Amino acid sequence: MAIATEFKPTIVGFLCNWCCYAGADLAGVSRFQFPPFLRVIRLMCSGRVDLEFIFRAFIKGADAVFIGGCHLNDCHYNPEGNYDALGNTLIAKRILEHVDVNPERLRLEWVSAGEGIRFAEIMNDLSTQAKSLGPFGSSEGIETAELQSRLEAANQLVPYIKLVERERLRVPVRTDEGYREFFASDAFNGLFDELILDKLDMSRIMGFVRTEPVSAGAISEGLGLNPSQVARHLHDLAQQGLIWFDEDQTLVAAA
Ligand code: FES
Repeated sequence: MAIATEFKPTIVGFLCNWCCYAGADLAGVSRFQFPPFLRVIRLMCSGRVDLEFIFRAFIKGADAVFIGGCHLNDCHYNPEGNYDALGNTLIAKRILEHVDVNPERLRLEWVSAGEGIRFAEIMNDLSTQAKSLGPFGSSEGIETAELQSRLEAANQLVPYIKLVERERLRVPVRTDEGYREFFASDAFNGLFDELILDKLDMSRIMGFVRTEPVSAGAISEGLGLNPSQVARHLHDLAQQGLIWFDEDQTLVAAA
């Protein structure tokens, strides 16, 4: 008889050396209890956590990703790296949501070197949350391989996303509230949809069309995009000369 095994989530944690890592160390030395699901990657600052690190962690099998930095305005680097971590986390969550990955799988927290108990509490809570979300793909109801290929497409856009972030999505006020207000604003959402999410969908469509000639309906079904979105993107791609229709009205990628 098969024995059901308990799901043990893999949580990849990026911890800043000066605060969160020291807090984790204190939690260990103080023997505060928390489940052993965290795989720690120590970085000098949470601002070093690139979008690519987050996507790659999920592509490589993480069920959840944790970023831990110093409290806002306590970062050891100037300009403050933890504001960059906050911006990257908010952007990553938008992209995860767009490709149907539950954004709750990504969590950012501030922990100081003296907050061992806080680190342990966060780990207990995160472990419970990761267990309830289940293996990557299960709470999403989508095959893991499919989600990973969506994240690969997002990952390939990271250099472009960073450029857009620097040139067009600069947060005007560097406070926690300023970031959250900016990322929730209509101005941000409009620009983000137009400059990043549309580009991501078009890149996924090109990847799909390059494998073999397909119909617009097959793209919509295969990529989980609605038909009107697909029609709009196909129109733009055709105008840019990246795709064309053959005599059977099948889409073909330009050589
Ligand atoms: Fe800890 Fe920057 S040094 S977040």
